[in-house]
Amino acid sequence: YTGDNILFPALEQSMMAVVLINEKDEVLFFNRSAEKLWGYQRQEVLGKDVSGLVPSYLKGIHSGFISHNREGGEARVEGMSRELLLERKDGSTVWTRFSLSKVDVGGRLHYLALVRDAS
Ligand code: HEM
Repeated sequence: YTGDNILFPALEQSMMAVVLINEKDEVLFFNRSAEKLWGYQRQEVLGKDVSGLVPSYLKGIHSGFISHNREGGEARVEGMSRELLLERKDGSTVWTRFSLSKVDVGGRLHYLALVRDAS
């Protein structure tokens, strides 16, 4: 497969919510399904720290989870292939299924979360 700029629309139009963060934990990509699931428009989250997408009770500790993984965790992030309670912009909550992948871009570690409603 040689590309043809299909991957971007494929990710953008995926039924899974797609969130990609860069090596500084900033949100690089937030697709249409992610906007629906979280209730945020992409312009509200792009370039900002991923902690804005994490439920209030985890905000203080979640960045520690990420840095711990950056400093030597597995390629497949086992701890995040599971159901998590997502908190929307309006404060309501929904059970979701997360699959998290580590994406190595020339030594810069990104993370890709694929998320769906599991309620
Ligand atoms: C770890 C929750 C969003 C990246 C964790 C952990 C929890 C958690 C509880 C600790 C590991 C575990 O017990 O499974 C959440 C919730 C989210 C959210 C509730 C939003 C509703 C994200 C997003 C990303 C991300 C969007 C990145 C795209 C990570 C990473 C770890 C982690 C890299 C370390 C995992 C490990 O070392 O196993 N998260 N998270 N999280 N999270 Fe999140």
